[in-house]
Amino acid sequence: MRVLVAGGAGYIGSHTVVRLLQHGDDVVIADNFSNSSPLVVDRLRRITGRPVKVEEIDLTDTADTKALMRNAKPDAVIHFAGLKAVGESVTNPGSYYSVNLRSTLSLLAAMQEAGVYCLVFSSSATVYGMNPPVPTPEDSPTSATNPYGWTKVMGEQILTDIAASHPQWRIGLLRYFNPGGAHPCGAIGEDPLGVPNNVLPYISQVAIGRRDYLSVFGDDYDTPDGTGVRDFIHVDDLAEGHVAALHRLTTMPRSLDVWNLGTGRGTSVLELRAAFEAASGRPIPYRVTARRPGDVARSLALVTKAERELGWRAQRGLLEMCQDAWRWQSQNPDGYR
Ligand code: UFG
Repeated sequence: MRVLVAGGAGYIGSHTVVRLLQHGDDVVIADNFSNSSPLVVDRLRRITGRPVKVEEIDLTDTADTKALMRNAKPDAVIHFAGLKAVGESVTNPGSYYSVNLRSTLSLLAAMQEAGVYCLVFSSSATVYGMNPPVPTPEDSPTSATNPYGWTKVMGEQILTDIAASHPQWRIGLLRYFNPGGAHPCGAIGEDPLGVPNNVLPYISQVAIGRRDYLSVFGDDYDTPDGTGVRDFIHVDDLAEGHVAALHRLTTMPRSLDVWNLGTGRGTSVLELRAAFEAASGRPIPYRVTARRPGDVARSLALVTKAERELGWRAQRGLLEMCQDAWRWQSQNPDGYR
């Protein structure tokens, strides 16, 4: 299969490209490198020994996106491209709505024009809002607590309506829980710009000495140690989930379906910190600070639907995730810079 990977130079995108290439699929990456490095592409070629085409493109430009789709002639598209920092979305909501929704609409228009009807969309557990049942099944109501989350809810709604409008569409919505880790070779990984928003890259930067200590956002939640509990999933498991979803689309009876990608297992912030200390052999000092507004106490995936319908389940554990994250961080102390 020939796959256009929008946002394929980013963290989850690049790991998915490795899995697609190893699976024998051909890949064209479309990226504007706004939050990723062109250096990723050579590393992908090195890891897989396979060619990867790259197009530098702004997907909010519909004419350019249509031209790309005509030239690339993919069988399917995986859409990772978008802005993803929750805090930034609150201070700059206009650019979040603009980039995330316009890129999705552009891709859809280009796909329709080229007769490409297979799409896997990066969504997020953030669409379950503040009070979902835990573990959370896919049929829980959706809502959001910040503009980034709303772009995912709205993106899902647009795709649901598009899929209903034309029976040829095959669209898979993948709701990620908390991705972490890196490819075990240490050549690709997460490389946040500025101060990391997410706990795992933050811990990793404390371990390497770029940050002094971890701020633990609240230890008075209704959880065993009082800190937030999340469903951390190894990025390579997530990548394999995309390959499974893509191939499910070709036999799927409905025009749209949705799957959680998580492990179903919970880890607290303090447990994560301890696992990272064990994996890295470095101390991770921490201080407990106030809760971060909008955080839930626990977030866990119900994973039975993905297991049943995609034949996929997460294979890698917490320690492996921390070891792989540490290998990437210690071999690339400044990321791709
Ligand atoms: N946390 C800290 N210190 C930090 C950062 C986070 O204690 O410096 C805590 C948070 O309070 C939370 C846990 O670590 O309890 C996880 O926080 P993250 O920011 O790493 O992840 P979130 O669960 O808040 O959000 C992530 C993604 C979102 C996505 C969501 C889906 O960042 O894009 O998962 O559930 F929408």
